[in-house]
Amino acid sequence: MITINEHYLKLQASYLFSDIARRVATFQQNNPEVEVIKLGIGDVTRPLPRACIEAMHRAVEEMGAEPTFRGYGPEQGYAFLREAIALHDFQARGADIQADEIFVSDGAKCDTGNIQELFSQDIRVAIPDPVYPVYLDTNVMAGRTGEFAHGRYQGIVYLDSTRENNFVPSLPAEPVDLIYLCFPNNPTGSTISKAELKTWVDYARANKALILFDAAYEIFIRDESLPHSIYEIEGAKEVALEFRSYSKSAGFTGTRCAYTVVPKECTAFDRNGNRQLLHSLWNRRHCTKFNGVSYPVQRAAEAVYSEEGRMQTRELADYYLQNAASVRREMQALGFSLVGGENAPYVWIDGGRDSWEFFDMLLNKAGVVCTPGAGFGRCGNGYIRISAFNSHENVEKALQRIRQALS
Ligand code: MLT
Repeated sequence: MITINEHYLKLQASYLFSDIARRVATFQQNNPEVEVIKLGIGDVTRPLPRACIEAMHRAVEEMGAEPTFRGYGPEQGYAFLREAIALHDFQARGADIQADEIFVSDGAKCDTGNIQELFSQDIRVAIPDPVYPVYLDTNVMAGRTGEFAHGRYQGIVYLDSTRENNFVPSLPAEPVDLIYLCFPNNPTGSTISKAELKTWVDYARANKALILFDAAYEIFIRDESLPHSIYEIEGAKEVALEFRSYSKSAGFTGTRCAYTVVPKECTAFDRNGNRQLLHSLWNRRHCTKFNGVSYPVQRAAEAVYSEEGRMQTRELADYYLQNAASVRREMQALGFSLVGGENAPYVWIDGGRDSWEFFDMLLNKAGVVCTPGAGFGRCGNGYIRISAFNSHENVEKALQRIRQALS
């Protein structure tokens, strides 16, 4: 008899963004005349930067000619891209990361979901609340939690991110082995200072723990005192992996390219307390289960680091940050307290009521889709997240409709 992985049965009915998409589809079916404006899932709307398109075109031509055609590439990514990443994203910021510590992939969602395969089932996992649901759900699937009760999975150490701590969680009160952090944060848009991040790195070093640092939104940082990478913190290479993505930085949500940094010094322990290199384990996993990102897409990602590419991606991020500024301005004028949107594309708004109720009200009365904070965890209840990923025109229209709906 074929039996299932019963841990899947503990999961909430569906993935947050699928649930929202279903509700929006039903609304649209019943109200076909309403032009729905989506400020929910963080999906980009601007076209790819010119530099990326041109590089991709050239690479496609290469694939069409025998002398330049390429078959399977290296699973870890082509050297041209790994070298550009190491140089521009890390060494230029004083972080000593080498090209062979970079693993190119098709998404930070997949990488943050897959990485937990490397760890044993009985580790203690610390996850912020609210949180990008992938970190939690993949640990549920792996059997690291008990049942879901009162809005939380048993066995997880939740790190509350609330107004009281400025949406930067405090160190856990009990010992943990694996810690998920994301800054600039999804969903709250909050940021972490170097001093605060150092306390996490020091904690991990003192407790033989590992930090999974999701920096998918670093391109939106405008306050240059903030860390873009955890490797700007001394000692982090021994205790942290970092995830990056071109989805939000270069508009690659549909193109797919990302990478994970696994420093050679970074270790975890076997049952006998011996240190094992995570680099070797992830390399083994990557080679076995992944066949690399397509050549034209890696050339497009490489173009992000050209002079034009750097300028164009910066302009892209600025475009969305202008939307975030409008959202902040308008929602504050309407009397809401909020965070985010200054160094992040998300604005986290205290709606002062149940977040699904607020979501339904905005959808039904304004035809605007947001993300209910409760979908990101118990601490998200009462909040909604508004994403800046849309055109200026649509964001202005959405804000006008929200104003009308609330008046
Ligand atoms: C979000 O809206 O939280 C993100 O778009 C999800 C993702 O990047 O997978």
